[in-house]
Amino acid sequence: MECRIEEAIKTIKMNDRGGFTVPTNRLYPYQWNWDSGFTALGIWHFNKWRAWLEIMALLDAQWEDGMVPHIVFRQNDPDYFPGPGVWQTNTEPASSGHSQPPVLASMILRMVQNGTAYDMRKAREVFPRLMAYHRWFASARDPQGTGVIGIIHPWESGRDNCPDWDIGMNAITVPGDLIAYKRRDTSHVDSDQRPTQEQYDRFITIVQFARETGWDHRRIHAEGPFLMADPGVQFIFLRATRDLLTLAEMLDMTEAISELRRLIEQVSKGSDWLWNDKVGGYCARDIRTGVFSDAITNASMLCFYGDVGSPEQRASMAAHCRRILAACQFGMPSWDPEHADFEPRRYWRGPVWAIMNHMLITGLADAGEEMLAQRITSDTQKLIESQGMAEYFDPMEGTGLGGMDFSWTAAIYLDHCRDRVAELLKETG
Ligand code: DGY
Repeated sequence: MECRIEEAIKTIKMNDRGGFTVPTNRLYPYQWNWDSGFTALGIWHFNKWRAWLEIMALLDAQWEDGMVPHIVFRQNDPDYFPGPGVWQTNTEPASSGHSQPPVLASMILRMVQNGTAYDMRKAREVFPRLMAYHRWFASARDPQGTGVIGIIHPWESGRDNCPDWDIGMNAITVPGDLIAYKRRDTSHVDSDQRPTQEQYDRFITIVQFARETGWDHRRIHAEGPFLMADPGVQFIFLRATRDLLTLAEMLDMTEAISELRRLIEQVSKGSDWLWNDKVGGYCARDIRTGVFSDAITNASMLCFYGDVGSPEQRASMAAHCRRILAACQFGMPSWDPEHADFEPRRYWRGPVWAIMNHMLITGLADAGEEMLAQRITSDTQKLIESQGMAEYFDPMEGTGLGGMDFSWTAAIYLDHCRDRVAELLKETG
């Protein structure tokens, strides 16, 4: 297999728009929240200063209430829909109106744990903003303090068209006065690798409802057209809150320490609500109706990353992991390949994503599931080394899909090859 370190660095540099990085040219022309979190970790391996700039640029768009939006629009690019004019959030810089999986604190902890006094200083500087972000998630996405984090739009999960959301999405009535719009994504990528038109109409229905409330998140949570619990956001938030606690301890932030401990306890307990006995695993669930999704996804498997579950629950999840990996050539698919709704090429309805694999590997290794972690590590390397920096990959044939020259795939590759990256940089000065 071909070593692609230089290509990965080149990809990220090519996507640099001066202080922030786009996920890929044209398809995603702005700064995305979790993309930038992972990308910062990748950049950190070859330019620490620039990695922190990525994080500062994202936090520059943090709302007054603490939310870090899922897209930051620094210019208007007609090549992307829905742009700032659709969201109408009236923020400076312009931004979308909801968030995305909060990976930031976890990426920062990795940088600090392997870094120098410079990284510690930067972490101290951003710490209050990270606290505000986690407080926002806790209050705006779980206002009753149940420990179950809700998402108000499938885009907030980052797993836009996963069948997990079909339950909530099918309950949405598209209004007769839905804004007229023209999709741009299918001009850049084959439509069979993207969400369907019916899904887009519902995505935009939620945005239209929310902007009519003036982006009042209490109302959106209470009355909005969509409210589901996502194992992905739940476990990523839990992990990131634990990582924030470790940072707080390293930085001696005494008050934050007790607040974060309480939050971790609450969200750990709440996670049990996502356990679906019928499937024997963690599944997405509609918060208003209690209806469960019925398949294991790569997000379900983040239970190890979130460090939840009894020994029996963990054993059941590890058994699912072995079964799913045996059913495909490359893991970890975003939907169970033995389930009728599996589509190996369509975005989050089957394909493998390097960023998800990165978190899965971390969680499985922490849980002592070394063999599973190694299998996913080796699949990730093979996919990237044979196909390059694709957005996602077919789990059956290994083909690279979606946008090409993708920053976060390049970033994960650099993180996995970090020792070789360090050697290469030493050699080239
Ligand atoms: C898109 O436009 O497909 C994005 O995933 C929304 O954030």
